[in-house]
Amino acid sequence: MRRPILAANWKMNKSAGEAQAFAEKLLPAIADASSLDVVIAPPFTALDRLGRALGGSAVELAAQNVNAEPAGAHTGEISVSMLLEFGCRYGIVGHSERRAIYGETNGQVAAKAKALQAAGIRPIVCVGETLEERDGAETLSVVGRQLDESLVGVAGKELVIAYEPVWAIGTGRVATPDIAQQVHAFVRERLGTLYGEVADSIRIQYGGSVKPDNAAELMAQSDIDGALVGGASLESDSFAQLVSIVARAVQA
Ligand code: 13P
Repeated sequence: MRRPILAANWKMNKSAGEAQAFAEKLLPAIADASSLDVVIAPPFTALDRLGRALGGSAVELAAQNVNAEPAGAHTGEISVSMLLEFGCRYGIVGHSERRAIYGETNGQVAAKAKALQAAGIRPIVCVGETLEERDGAETLSVVGRQLDESLVGVAGKELVIAYEPVWAIGTGRVATPDIAQQVHAFVRERLGTLYGEVADSIRIQYGGSVKPDNAAELMAQSDIDGALVGGASLESDSFAQLVSIVARAVQA
């Protein structure tokens, strides 16, 4: 059985002080979090304070991005070893905002995921189609190509995939559980082609307008192993609710 993973992607939100205050409110509210992995990806500038505030708890830190090179002339970039210094256990790579706004390619995503794995940090590799691609019936071919090309040289062990349909991100328009499950099943099948039996242990998160009122239905799907949450992860109350919904879904 796959252990569910709920991750908060704060994107470019929260100061270090706000991150600390969030942790201080969240921790007492998530006593029942032992059956899942809970992860928070703050901005780089909040990793230190958030890590200290979470210290000793089971909540783990993630980076929102990383540079694949070990060091050198890369102004404005952050390396894997810098993330290790702050205790990051996960790293999000290939988020659709990075692909769309910053032109990140599948090849770069693969290089970042490999660099993370070499340091023992688990990559969360994001894939997902745009509305235009969905309307053009290209969802599976787009997602399939993203997986094939973003996972070149990436090991299946400890890998996490996030399926985030771009049209559902920040729009309030969540994929129906059936639509999400269809794509997740396709992703798992493709992972089977790439990794054989290991595919059964790879966790696939759904992302895109996940909220406390739609999470239970999504989590009930057989190939949905957790969620990557933007907006609803910014308030400790709604994130704590999501933790207990995912925890209950595991027990169900
Ligand atoms: P929202 O939950 O705000 O739609 O964001 C999803 C996302 O992009 C998480 O990485």
